[in-house]
Amino acid sequence: MSDTAKLDFAFVVDEDKRFNSVVELAATILNQDRYILMEFPEVRESHVIGAFCDDQAIGFLRFLVQDLGKAEGRPPVLRSGKPITEAYIEAFGVHPDWRRQGIGSSLQLVAIDYALRCDCYQVRSRSPVTSEENYSLKIAAGYAIQPSEQNDSYYFIKKL
Ligand SMILES: CC(C)(COP(=O)(O)OP(=O)(O)OC[C@H]1O[C@@H](n2cnc3c(N)ncnc32)[C@H](O)[C@@H]1OP(=O)(O)O)[C@@H](O)C(=O)NCCC(=O)NCCS
Repeated sequence: MSDTAKLDFAFVVDEDKRFNSVVELAATILNQDRYILMEFPEVRESHVIGAFCDDQAIGFLRFLVQDLGKAEGRPPVLRSGKPITEAYIEAFGVHPDWRRQGIGSSLQLVAIDYALRCDCYQVRSRSPVTSEENYSLKIAAGYAIQPSEQNDSYYFIKKL
């Protein structure tokens, strides 16, 4: 990175020109553009965070704020009479040239900071066993691990 390059993290929406840069990058990392663009009408909120260098996307994370268990058809789990909510990470990636520089961890922290302000109980995601770097990141960050019944994947869960 040059001394004058500007690195920043921002929430982006689909009218934002930087959103397209995120979608293009996501398409190159495990075809995750579909997880950026997929609609989730049942959730409370959906957000896409981009990491940018001079307005070019170098990383992304999409998360949903949702009632725990609703997508699986379970009744709500109540806390102080209100359904427990979680931040569920749908898409996550960093451009190969920018890995191991803390960009992925920073994206996670931006999402977690937002989730804490929304009073989410936990953060959760699922990824295939082939995502070795992501497994290393989640283990280093202290996530609990739960086997999934879908296609050789595990859930990663952290209480906020
Ligand atoms: C997972 C991913 C987003 C991590 O992004 P990143 O910016 O490289 O992550 P960070 O630099 O914040 O790494 C944080 C920690 O995670 C661990 N880690 C990350 N990549 C690792 C690797 N290749 N080998 C070992 N540990 C690794 C390390 O503990 C690292 O800390 P350190 O560099 O101080 O040792 C990136 O590797 C990626 O895009 N992978 C492909 C897509 C993917 O798997 N997405 C998630 C599932 S769909």
